[in-house]
Amino acid sequence: MLIVIPEVLSPDEVKQCRMALLSAPWQDGLETAGYLAADVKKNQQLPLDSPVAKDIGSLIMQRLAQHPQFIAAALPAKMLPPRFNRYEGGQTYGNHIDNAIFNVPGTQERIRSDVSSTLFLSPPDEYEGGELVIEDTYGTQQVKLKAGDLVVYPGTSLHRVNPVTAGMRLASFFWTQSMIRQAHQRALLWELDQSIQRLAQQGSDTAELARLSGVYHNLIREWAEV
Ligand code: NI
Repeated sequence: MLIVIPEVLSPDEVKQCRMALLSAPWQDGLETAGYLAADVKKNQQLPLDSPVAKDIGSLIMQRLAQHPQFIAAALPAKMLPPRFNRYEGGQTYGNHIDNAIFNVPGTQERIRSDVSSTLFLSPPDEYEGGELVIEDTYGTQQVKLKAGDLVVYPGTSLHRVNPVTAGMRLASFFWTQSMIRQAHQRALLWELDQSIQRLAQQGSDTAELARLSGVYHNLIREWAEV
């Protein structure tokens, strides 16, 4: 299941992030590529200890921590600090599946990458190509979003970034360990949550809504690891 969450960052915040990112020193994406990814990863990344990455990363984490749709989609247990990449001049990242486990830099902590997210930071008309292509059991989906919009998808998916043939594509990407490990269970909970929200907005019977909401929480109780 692939979920698009619009306007995680406001246009002003995107502008500030882009200015900071453009003035930061970038490194070859190979520095953080695993043995197999090295063949297909041709992009640039901010170093993991970059102060700019830390600043913008914490802004993104703050926004997500208060974002009902992100919380409902990812059901986060813990998150890896956001990372940043840049593609230009034909750069691309071929088909791959992300590592399952990441160390949280500077700590002993490890997280399992149940949920992958990409936050687009360049307006789509500023670059050619650069679609995030995600292959899942429902087929192949191409994503190229407005600056400030986020896509959330299962960490188990095969995915790639098409070559950026003109302009520059800036994005943030990060992984979340979910309280709900299985993607199909997260998908059920997402559907149920969204229906409950819509019924509540339509002023449906509150007693029945309370029962449905109880089912939602009982499923979480059944499935969650905390
Ligand atoms: Ni990836």
